[in-house]
Amino acid sequence: MSYRIGIIGMGLRMTDVFSRLAGFRECELAAVADPDAEGVKTRMRDVLKWDERKIGSIPIYSEAETMLEREVLDGVMVGTRCSAHAALAAMVIRRGIPMFLEKPIAISTQGLAEIEEALAVHPEMNDKTVVSFPLRLTEQVQMLQEIVDSGKIGTVEHVQAVNDVPYGRVYFHGWYRDEKETGGLWLQKATHDFDYINSVLKIRPIEICAMTSKQIFKGDKPAGKLCDECEEKRTCPESYVSAHRASEYLYGPWCCFAEDTGNEDSGSAIIRYETGMHVVYSQNFFARKGAGLRGARFLGYAGTAEFDFQSGDVRIYMHHVCRTETYHFDAKDGHGGGDEALCRNFIDVVAGRACSRSSLRDGILSVNMCLAAKESSENHRFVTIKS
Ligand SMILES: NC(=O)c1ccc[n+]([C@@H]2O[C@H](COP(=O)([O-])OP(=O)(O)OC[C@H]3O[C@@H](n4cnc5c(N)ncnc54)[C@H](O)[C@@H]3O)[C@@H](O)[C@H]2O)c1
Repeated sequence: MSYRIGIIGMGLRMTDVFSRLAGFRECELAAVADPDAEGVKTRMRDVLKWDERKIGSIPIYSEAETMLEREVLDGVMVGTRCSAHAALAAMVIRRGIPMFLEKPIAISTQGLAEIEEALAVHPEMNDKTVVSFPLRLTEQVQMLQEIVDSGKIGTVEHVQAVNDVPYGRVYFHGWYRDEKETGGLWLQKATHDFDYINSVLKIRPIEICAMTSKQIFKGDKPAGKLCDECEEKRTCPESYVSAHRASEYLYGPWCCFAEDTGNEDSGSAIIRYETGMHVVYSQNFFARKGAGLRGARFLGYAGTAEFDFQSGDVRIYMHHVCRTETYHFDAKDGHGGGDEALCRNFIDVVAGRACSRSSLRDGILSVNMCLAAKESSENHRFVTIKS
Protein backbone atom coordinates (compact mmCIF):
# COMPACT_ATOMS: atom_id res chain seq x y z
CA MET A 1 0.00 0.00 0.00
CA SER A 2 1.23 3.46 -0.86
CA TYR A 3 0.15 6.24 1.52
CA ARG A 4 -1.04 9.47 -0.10
CA ILE A 5 0.92 12.46 1.21
CA GLY A 6 0.10 16.14 0.66
CA ILE A 7 2.74 18.82 1.20
CA ILE A 8 1.93 22.38 2.26
CA GLY A 9 4.96 24.53 1.42
CA MET A 10 7.34 22.45 -0.70
CA GLY A 11 10.45 24.62 -0.43
CA LEU A 12 14.06 23.60 0.19
CA ARG A 13 13.47 21.85 3.50
CA MET A 14 10.35 19.87 2.67
CA THR A 15 11.65 18.75 -0.72
CA ASP A 16 14.70 17.32 1.06
CA VAL A 17 12.57 15.68 3.76
CA PHE A 18 10.20 14.22 1.17
CA SER A 19 13.12 12.71 -0.76
CA ARG A 20 14.13 10.89 2.45
CA LEU A 21 10.53 9.82 3.11
CA ALA A 22 10.16 8.53 -0.46
CA GLY A 23 13.26 6.37 0.04
CA PHE A 24 11.23 4.06 2.30
CA ARG A 25 8.88 3.37 -0.67
CA GLU A 26 5.67 3.40 1.33
CA CYS A 27 4.45 6.89 0.40
CA GLU A 28 3.60 8.79 -2.75
CA LEU A 29 3.24 12.53 -3.24
CA ALA A 30 -0.47 12.99 -3.95
CA ALA A 31 -0.68 16.81 -4.05
CA VAL A 32 1.14 20.02 -3.14
CA ALA A 33 -0.17 23.35 -1.85
CA ASP A 34 2.32 26.13 -2.55
CA PRO A 35 1.80 29.56 -4.18
CA ASP A 36 5.12 29.15 -6.01
CA ALA A 37 4.21 26.30 -8.41
CA GLU A 38 7.18 26.97 -10.70
CA GLY A 39 9.62 26.78 -7.76
CA VAL A 40 8.05 23.50 -6.66
CA LYS A 41 8.42 22.03 -10.17
CA THR A 42 12.04 23.16 -10.35
CA ARG A 43 12.82 21.36 -7.07
CA MET A 44 10.97 18.23 -8.27
CA ARG A 45 13.19 18.31 -11.36
CA ASP A 46 16.51 19.22 -9.68
CA VAL A 47 16.28 17.57 -6.26
CA LEU A 48 13.86 14.67 -6.73
CA LYS A 49 15.12 14.05 -10.31
CA TRP A 50 11.56 13.57 -11.58
CA ASP A 51 10.74 13.75 -15.29
CA GLU A 52 8.10 16.08 -16.79
CA ARG A 53 5.44 13.37 -16.96
CA LYS A 54 5.75 12.63 -13.26
CA ILE A 55 5.85 16.36 -12.36
CA GLY A 56 2.74 17.02 -14.48
CA SER A 57 0.83 14.26 -12.67
CA ILE A 58 0.97 16.01 -9.27
CA PRO A 59 -1.76 18.64 -8.65
CA ILE A 60 -0.29 21.86 -7.23
CA TYR A 61 -2.77 24.10 -5.41
CA SER A 62 -2.06 27.69 -4.47
CA GLU A 63 -4.06 27.37 -1.21
CA ALA A 64 -3.68 24.71 1.49
CA GLU A 65 -7.42 24.80 2.26
CA THR A 66 -8.33 23.91 -1.32
CA MET A 67 -5.91 20.98 -1.35
CA LEU A 68 -7.32 19.67 1.94
CA GLU A 69 -10.90 19.99 0.64
CA ARG A 70 -10.31 18.26 -2.68
CA GLU A 71 -7.75 15.55 -1.93
CA VAL A 72 -8.08 12.41 0.14
CA LEU A 73 -4.81 12.30 2.05
CA ASP A 74 -3.27 9.84 4.53
CA GLY A 75 -0.73 12.36 5.78
CA VAL A 76 0.16 16.04 5.42
CA MET A 77 3.58 17.68 5.72
CA VAL A 78 3.80 21.38 6.61
CA GLY A 79 7.04 23.02 5.44
CA THR A 80 6.29 26.70 4.91
CA ARG A 81 8.42 29.38 6.54
CA CYS A 82 8.00 29.77 10.29
CA SER A 83 5.33 32.48 10.60
CA ALA A 84 2.76 30.35 8.72
CA HIS A 85 3.26 27.10 10.68
CA ALA A 86 0.70 27.64 13.45
CA ALA A 87 -2.32 28.54 11.31
CA LEU A 88 -1.63 25.74 8.84
CA ALA A 89 -0.99 23.23 11.64
CA ALA A 90 -4.33 24.16 13.25
CA MET A 91 -6.04 23.65 9.86
CA VAL A 92 -4.61 20.11 9.58
CA ILE A 93 -5.30 19.28 13.25
CA ARG A 94 -8.98 20.22 12.74
CA ARG A 95 -9.14 17.63 9.95
CA GLY A 96 -7.46 14.96 12.08
CA ILE A 97 -4.91 13.99 9.41
CA PRO A 98 -1.50 12.65 10.58
CA MET A 99 0.98 15.50 10.18
CA PHE A 100 4.71 16.14 9.82
CA LEU A 101 5.19 19.70 11.08
CA GLU A 102 8.25 21.89 10.67
CA LYS A 103 9.73 23.70 13.65
CA PRO A 104 9.24 26.12 15.28
CA ILE A 105 5.60 25.05 15.34
CA ALA A 106 4.60 28.65 16.22
CA ILE A 107 6.42 31.94 16.71
CA SER A 108 4.00 33.66 19.09
CA THR A 109 1.63 32.98 21.97
CA GLN A 110 -1.27 33.69 19.60
CA GLY A 111 0.00 31.00 17.21
CA LEU A 112 0.32 28.53 20.08
CA ALA A 113 -3.22 29.39 21.23
CA GLU A 114 -4.53 28.56 17.75
CA ILE A 115 -2.83 25.15 17.91
CA GLU A 116 -4.03 24.51 21.48
CA GLU A 117 -7.61 25.33 20.50
CA ALA A 118 -7.56 22.83 17.63
CA LEU A 119 -5.80 20.24 19.80
CA ALA A 120 -8.48 20.53 22.49
CA VAL A 121 -11.03 19.30 19.92
CA HIS A 122 -8.65 16.68 18.44
CA PRO A 123 -6.44 15.51 21.34
CA GLU A 124 -5.48 12.41 19.34
CA MET A 125 -3.42 14.72 17.09
CA ASN A 126 -0.77 15.01 19.79
CA ASP A 127 0.44 11.50 18.98
CA LYS A 128 -0.38 11.82 15.28
CA THR A 129 1.90 14.82 14.73
CA VAL A 130 5.62 14.40 14.16
CA VAL A 131 7.34 17.69 14.91
CA SER A 132 10.51 18.11 12.88
CA PHE A 133 13.05 17.78 15.71
CA PRO A 134 15.68 15.49 14.17
CA LEU A 135 18.29 15.93 16.93
CA ARG A 136 16.31 13.98 19.54
CA LEU A 137 16.35 10.94 17.19
CA THR A 138 20.05 10.98 16.29
CA GLU A 139 22.08 7.96 17.38
CA GLN A 140 24.13 10.11 19.77
CA VAL A 141 21.14 11.55 21.62
CA GLN A 142 19.39 8.17 21.64
CA MET A 143 22.49 6.65 23.23
CA LEU A 144 22.69 9.44 25.76
CA GLN A 145 19.08 8.77 26.65
CA GLU A 146 19.91 5.07 27.09
CA ILE A 147 22.82 5.94 29.42
CA VAL A 148 20.72 8.33 31.52
CA ASP A 149 17.76 5.90 31.68
CA SER A 150 20.08 3.08 32.82
CA GLY A 151 21.01 5.10 35.93
CA LYS A 152 24.71 4.58 35.20
CA ILE A 153 25.70 8.20 35.80
CA GLY A 154 23.05 8.77 38.49
CA THR A 155 20.25 11.29 38.21
CA VAL A 156 21.26 14.13 35.92
CA GLU A 157 21.73 17.17 38.14
CA HIS A 158 23.34 19.58 35.67
CA VAL A 159 23.52 20.02 31.87
CA GLN A 160 25.93 22.22 29.93
CA ALA A 161 24.98 22.54 26.26
CA VAL A 162 26.49 24.50 23.42
CA ASN A 163 25.68 25.29 19.81
CA ASP A 164 28.34 27.26 17.96
CA VAL A 165 26.93 27.43 14.45
CA PRO A 166 29.67 27.48 11.78
CA TYR A 167 27.15 28.21 9.00
CA GLY A 168 25.73 31.20 10.92
CA ARG A 169 25.79 33.38 7.79
CA VAL A 170 22.41 31.86 6.94
CA TYR A 171 20.83 34.00 9.65
CA PHE A 172 22.17 37.36 8.46
CA HIS A 173 22.21 37.28 4.64
CA GLY A 174 18.92 35.65 3.70
CA TRP A 175 15.25 35.58 4.74
CA TYR A 176 16.12 34.11 8.16
CA ARG A 177 17.36 37.57 9.18
CA ASP A 178 13.77 38.81 9.21
CA GLU A 179 12.65 38.31 12.81
CA LYS A 180 9.02 38.89 11.85
CA GLU A 181 9.28 35.70 9.79
CA THR A 182 11.26 33.55 12.24
CA GLY A 183 10.56 35.03 15.68
CA GLY A 184 14.33 35.29 16.28
CA LEU A 185 17.08 32.81 16.99
CA TRP A 186 15.71 31.23 20.17
CA LEU A 187 12.75 29.97 18.14
CA GLN A 188 14.85 29.27 15.10
CA LYS A 189 17.80 27.44 16.62
CA ALA A 190 17.51 26.81 20.35
CA THR A 191 14.13 25.16 19.81
CA HIS A 192 16.05 22.03 18.67
CA ASP A 193 18.49 22.00 21.57
CA PHE A 194 15.86 22.70 24.23
CA ASP A 195 13.88 19.82 22.76
CA TYR A 196 16.60 17.18 22.78
CA ILE A 197 17.61 18.17 26.32
CA ASN A 198 13.97 17.79 27.44
CA SER A 199 13.73 14.43 25.69
CA VAL A 200 16.73 13.10 27.65
CA LEU A 201 15.80 14.63 31.02
CA LYS A 202 12.05 13.84 30.95
CA ILE A 203 11.38 16.42 33.67
CA ARG A 204 9.57 19.74 33.45
CA PRO A 205 11.37 23.08 32.86
CA ILE A 206 10.03 25.74 35.23
CA GLU A 207 11.74 29.05 34.59
CA ILE A 208 14.37 30.63 32.42
CA CYS A 209 16.66 33.60 32.31
CA ALA A 210 18.41 34.55 29.11
CA MET A 211 20.62 37.15 27.52
CA THR A 212 21.48 37.94 23.91
CA SER A 213 23.96 40.26 22.27
CA LYS A 214 24.56 41.60 18.80
CA GLN A 215 28.22 42.50 18.57
CA ILE A 216 29.25 41.50 15.05
CA PHE A 217 26.38 41.45 12.55
CA LYS A 218 25.29 45.06 12.80
CA GLY A 219 26.41 48.19 10.99
CA ASP A 220 25.49 51.26 9.09
CA LYS A 221 25.15 49.97 5.55
CA PRO A 222 21.76 51.06 4.22
CA ALA A 223 18.73 48.83 4.71
CA GLY A 224 18.31 46.35 1.88
CA LYS A 225 21.94 46.71 0.73
CA LEU A 226 22.89 43.86 -1.60
CA CYS A 227 26.24 42.12 -1.16
CA ASP A 228 26.68 42.06 -4.92
CA GLU A 229 26.41 45.84 -5.16
CA CYS A 230 28.84 46.61 -2.35
CA GLU A 231 32.11 48.43 -3.01
CA GLU A 232 33.76 46.31 -0.26
CA LYS A 233 32.81 42.89 -1.56
CA ARG A 234 36.39 41.92 -2.51
CA THR A 235 37.73 42.56 0.99
CA CYS A 236 34.75 41.97 3.29
CA PRO A 237 35.25 38.61 5.08
CA GLU A 238 31.48 37.96 4.94
CA SER A 239 30.90 38.71 1.24
CA TYR A 240 29.98 36.09 -1.32
CA VAL A 241 33.44 36.62 -2.85
CA SER A 242 35.15 35.62 0.42
CA ALA A 243 32.66 32.81 0.97
CA HIS A 244 33.34 31.45 -2.51
CA ARG A 245 37.12 31.74 -1.96
CA ALA A 246 36.72 29.59 1.18
CA SER A 247 34.50 27.06 -0.67
CA GLU A 248 31.61 28.16 1.51
CA TYR A 249 28.33 29.69 0.42
CA LEU A 250 26.05 32.63 1.10
CA TYR A 251 22.42 31.84 1.66
CA GLY A 252 20.81 35.11 0.64
CA PRO A 253 21.75 38.28 -1.21
CA TRP A 254 21.84 40.94 1.53
CA CYS A 255 24.62 42.65 3.47
CA CYS A 256 25.03 41.33 7.02
CA PHE A 257 26.38 44.73 8.19
CA ALA A 258 23.28 46.72 7.21
CA GLU A 259 21.03 48.61 9.60
CA ASP A 260 18.15 46.21 8.87
CA THR A 261 20.12 43.00 9.60
CA GLY A 262 18.01 41.29 12.24
CA ASN A 263 18.90 38.64 14.87
CA GLU A 264 21.31 38.62 17.78
CA ASP A 265 24.65 36.90 17.10
CA SER A 266 24.98 35.11 20.43
CA GLY A 267 22.63 34.11 23.21
CA SER A 268 22.76 32.21 26.50
CA ALA A 269 20.04 30.79 28.72
CA ILE A 270 19.84 29.20 32.15
CA ILE A 271 16.83 26.96 32.72
CA ARG A 272 15.60 25.64 36.06
CA TYR A 273 13.77 22.29 36.06
CA GLU A 274 11.14 21.00 38.49
CA THR A 275 13.65 18.99 40.56
CA GLY A 276 15.78 22.08 41.20
CA MET A 277 18.55 21.10 38.77
CA HIS A 278 19.47 23.53 36.00
CA VAL A 279 20.63 23.55 32.39
CA VAL A 280 22.90 26.12 30.80
CA TYR A 281 22.76 26.58 27.02
CA SER A 282 24.71 28.94 24.81
CA GLN A 283 24.49 29.56 21.05
CA ASN A 284 26.80 31.54 18.81
CA PHE A 285 26.53 32.53 15.16
CA PHE A 286 29.97 33.90 14.25
CA ALA A 287 32.11 30.86 15.14
CA ARG A 288 33.48 29.40 11.90
CA LYS A 289 35.13 26.29 10.52
CA GLY A 290 36.78 24.13 13.22
CA ALA A 291 35.17 26.24 15.96
CA GLY A 292 31.74 24.81 15.09
CA LEU A 293 30.40 22.68 17.94
CA ARG A 294 27.01 21.31 18.95
CA GLY A 295 26.60 19.01 21.90
CA ALA A 296 26.16 18.75 25.65
CA ARG A 297 27.43 17.29 28.90
CA PHE A 298 24.96 15.60 31.25
CA LEU A 299 26.37 15.40 34.78
CA GLY A 300 25.17 13.03 37.48
CA TYR A 301 26.82 12.28 40.81
CA ALA A 302 28.18 8.93 39.53
CA GLY A 303 29.37 10.11 36.13
CA THR A 304 29.24 12.50 33.20
CA ALA A 305 28.00 11.62 29.72
CA GLU A 306 28.82 13.96 26.85
CA PHE A 307 28.44 14.06 23.09
CA ASP A 308 29.03 16.36 20.19
CA PHE A 309 27.90 16.04 16.61
CA GLN A 310 31.22 17.30 15.20
CA SER A 311 33.34 14.38 16.45
CA GLY A 312 30.43 11.92 16.40
CA ASP A 313 31.56 10.67 19.83
CA VAL A 314 29.63 9.86 22.98
CA ARG A 315 31.83 9.61 26.08
CA ILE A 316 31.10 8.47 29.60
CA TYR A 317 33.43 9.49 32.44
CA MET A 318 32.80 7.59 35.67
CA HIS A 319 33.39 9.77 38.73
CA HIS A 320 34.25 7.15 41.35
CA VAL A 321 36.19 4.58 39.31
CA CYS A 322 39.01 5.27 36.83
CA ARG A 323 37.05 4.48 33.68
CA THR A 324 36.16 6.37 30.54
CA GLU A 325 34.14 4.84 27.72
CA THR A 326 34.03 6.27 24.20
CA TYR A 327 31.57 5.34 21.48
CA HIS A 328 32.00 6.66 17.98
CA PHE A 329 29.20 7.15 15.46
CA ASP A 330 30.09 7.63 11.81
CA ALA A 331 28.88 10.88 10.27
CA LYS A 332 25.46 10.71 8.60
CA ASP A 333 23.79 13.43 6.58
CA GLY A 334 20.29 14.78 7.27
CA HIS A 335 21.00 16.04 10.79
CA GLY A 336 23.10 13.02 11.76
CA GLY A 337 20.45 10.55 10.56
CA GLY A 338 17.71 12.30 12.56
CA ASP A 339 15.75 13.26 9.43
CA GLU A 340 15.53 9.63 8.28
CA ALA A 341 14.41 8.56 11.75
CA LEU A 342 11.67 11.25 11.76
CA CYS A 343 10.49 10.12 8.31
CA ARG A 344 10.39 6.47 9.42
CA ASN A 345 8.33 7.49 12.46
CA PHE A 346 5.97 9.60 10.33
CA ILE A 347 5.26 6.66 8.02
CA ASP A 348 4.54 4.47 11.06
CA VAL A 349 2.19 7.16 12.43
CA VAL A 350 0.41 7.43 9.05
CA ALA A 351 0.08 3.63 8.96
CA GLY A 352 -1.31 3.60 12.52
CA ARG A 353 1.59 1.39 13.66
CA ALA A 354 3.12 3.86 16.13
CA CYS A 355 2.73 7.11 18.02
CA SER A 356 4.85 10.15 17.30
CA ARG A 357 8.31 10.15 18.86
CA SER A 358 8.34 13.96 18.60
CA SER A 359 4.82 14.96 19.54
CA LEU A 360 2.84 18.18 19.27
CA ARG A 361 3.18 18.69 23.05
CA ASP A 362 6.98 18.43 22.65
CA GLY A 363 6.75 21.15 20.00
CA ILE A 364 4.53 23.31 22.19
CA LEU A 365 6.87 22.99 25.18
CA SER A 366 9.90 23.95 23.11
CA VAL A 367 8.12 27.04 21.74
CA ASN A 368 7.04 28.04 25.26
CA MET A 369 10.67 27.80 26.38
CA CYS A 370 11.88 29.87 23.42
CA LEU A 371 9.20 32.53 23.93
CA ALA A 372 10.17 32.71 27.62
CA ALA A 373 13.88 33.01 26.68
CA LYS A 374 13.00 35.79 24.24
CA GLU A 375 10.98 37.67 26.84
CA SER A 376 13.72 37.21 29.44
CA SER A 377 16.45 38.49 27.12
CA GLU A 378 14.33 41.49 26.12
CA ASN A 379 13.17 42.41 29.64
CA HIS A 380 16.16 41.27 31.73
CA ARG A 381 14.24 39.13 34.18
CA PHE A 382 13.45 35.51 35.04
CA VAL A 383 10.38 34.22 33.19
CA THR A 384 8.14 31.31 34.17
CA ILE A 385 7.82 28.72 31.41
CA LYS A 386 4.22 27.96 30.50
CA SER A 387 3.47 24.27 30.79
N1 LIG B 1 13.84 20.88 11.20
C1 LIG B 1 14.94 21.33 10.67
O1 LIG B 1 16.02 20.87 10.99
C2 LIG B 1 14.87 22.43 9.65
C3 LIG B 1 15.94 22.66 8.77
C4 LIG B 1 15.81 23.68 7.83
C5 LIG B 1 14.65 24.45 7.79
N2 LIG B 1 13.66 24.20 8.67
C6 LIG B 1 12.41 24.99 8.65
O2 LIG B 1 11.75 24.73 7.43
C7 LIG B 1 10.93 25.83 7.09
C8 LIG B 1 11.06 26.13 5.61
O3 LIG B 1 12.37 26.52 5.30
P1 LIG B 1 12.86 26.50 3.77
O4 LIG B 1 14.29 26.83 3.76
O5 LIG B 1 12.41 25.26 3.09
O6 LIG B 1 12.04 27.75 3.18
P2 LIG B 1 11.61 27.95 1.67
O7 LIG B 1 11.33 29.39 1.50
O8 LIG B 1 12.58 27.29 0.75
O9 LIG B 1 10.22 27.13 1.55
C9 LIG B 1 8.98 27.60 1.98
C10 LIG B 1 7.94 27.21 0.94
O10 LIG B 1 6.65 27.53 1.45
C11 LIG B 1 5.89 28.11 0.38
N3 LIG B 1 4.79 28.89 0.98
C12 LIG B 1 4.81 30.17 1.45
N4 LIG B 1 3.59 30.51 1.95
C13 LIG B 1 2.80 29.42 1.81
C14 LIG B 1 1.45 29.13 2.14
N5 LIG B 1 0.67 30.02 2.75
N6 LIG B 1 0.96 27.90 1.85
C15 LIG B 1 1.72 26.98 1.24
N7 LIG B 1 3.03 27.19 0.90
C16 LIG B 1 3.55 28.38 1.18
C17 LIG B 1 6.91 28.91 -0.40
O11 LIG B 1 6.46 29.22 -1.71
C18 LIG B 1 8.10 27.95 -0.39
O12 LIG B 1 8.06 27.04 -1.46
C19 LIG B 1 11.34 26.98 8.03
O13 LIG B 1 10.33 27.16 8.98
C20 LIG B 1 12.61 26.50 8.69
O14 LIG B 1 12.74 26.95 10.03
C21 LIG B 1 13.74 23.20 9.57
